Amino acid sequence: MMDLLVKDGRVYSGNRLLSTDIWIKDGRIAALGGYNKAAERIDASGMIVIPGAIDMHVHFREPGYTHKEDWESGSISAAAGGVTTVVDQPNTNPPVMDADSYMDKLNLAKRSSVVDFCLNGGPGDVESLLRAGASAIGEIFMYEMSDERLARILEEVARLGALATVHAEDGEVIRRYSEPLREIRDPDVHSRARPPIAEVSAIDRALSISRCRLHICHISTADGLELVRRRRERRVSCEVAPHHLFLSRRDYRSLGTFLKTNPPLRNPTECDALWDGLRRGDIDVIASDHAPHLPEEKRDDIWHAPPGVPGVETMLPLMLYAVKSNMITLERAVDALSARPASILGLRSKGEIAVGNDADLVIFDPKRQERIDVQRLHSRADWTPYEGKRAIFPVMTLVRGSVVFDGDIEVNPGYGRNIETRISKREEEHSD
Ligand code: DOR
Ligand code: ZN
Repeated sequence: MMDLLVKDGRVYSGNRLLSTDIWIKDGRIAALGGYNKAAERIDASGMIVIPGAIDMHVHFREPGYTHKEDWESGSISAAAGGVTTVVDQPNTNPPVMDADSYMDKLNLAKRSSVVDFCLNGGPGDVESLLRAGASAIGEIFMYEMSDERLARILEEVARLGALATVHAEDGEVIRRYSEPLREIRDPDVHSRARPPIAEVSAIDRALSISRCRLHICHISTADGLELVRRRRERRVSCEVAPHHLFLSRRDYRSLGTFLKTNPPLRNPTECDALWDGLRRGDIDVIASDHAPHLPEEKRDDIWHAPPGVPGVETMLPLMLYAVKSNMITLERAVDALSARPASILGLRSKGEIAVGNDADLVIFDPKRQERIDVQRLHSRADWTPYEGKRAIFPVMTLVRGSVVFDGDIEVNPGYGRNIETRISKREEEHSD
């Protein structure tokens, strides 16, 4: 007897759409097709079923900044947007820099998250963080760090066989470009103060210093991408954020300081190059860099407003609409949203609809496009840079075989689990 049957959907599995049933038992996919009995069923006729998205870059703000977001609001926002696993970044307060601060955040997330999660550790006590279970070290803000310190950290990450993720912007370049612009108040000055060369220079340094597995966060320039592409044989991957695909410097005109984000928005030609890179697969992953701040904070002048835009709930819906409008294939979109992040993070039971994997599913109606409306989003940020843009939202999101979202949230806070990638475990697997 199975627990659940997802019946008559078109199911994305093995890189194609199949008309098949999904049988679920104990949170896992037990069979695709065939005959059986199940306690419950979901009618997915007319729907497409894809694996839940794995968002490897969110800032859920708890502990420390829960007026902007917390584990409950952030994870509900994720579930409503088809994200079934998130990787939280360590720049909370206190920052996650050692095993104690890691365990404190782990307890908060376990108590409140409705989706599965991993926690990254910051560039602190690398070994204790990885032994405690941190999924990676990062995002490392390169503009806050000397090359010597970066080298020491990446060395340690390499020694322990782990992954480092870097926010590649060069602090020296930013200081040099910012200085003469200080009197300017036009929001576009933020992009001028952090030009493409700041990213290119930092990526170049990270690639030459690193001997560990390296992941470049939110790549935003054609030249930066070209550097990564040329080093493909090295163990490097990269991600793009939705705001660098769907928004450009032109949008400051309507949204002003709200669009302050790091790295900044670029010229439309850069967006085109990022779309090309994503289609080709040179950009591995789409990750939201969900960085919520309140409207009253974002309304400050451009030099003082906090950087970052929310995006965990709109990422997959925007991408599904991009598929519908032939900007990208469904195959590449699902790969970038689910399969590649799972493989980079080493999440063995996630990222694909396959027998034995966790039943993390997004069910959507390809005909039901709508316009993004902040009133219907769940982040505490309470604003979106994508208001009015077309999107295809999930009808239903399942995490480990349970419906988490179907218009309402159907599980209690704390349903989400920590997906461990701890190094002690990796060592055991290597010695098998
Ligand atoms: O714009 C940004 N905001 N970029 C980052 O890298 C961090 C983030 C935040 O935490 O607000
Ligand atoms: Zn970043």
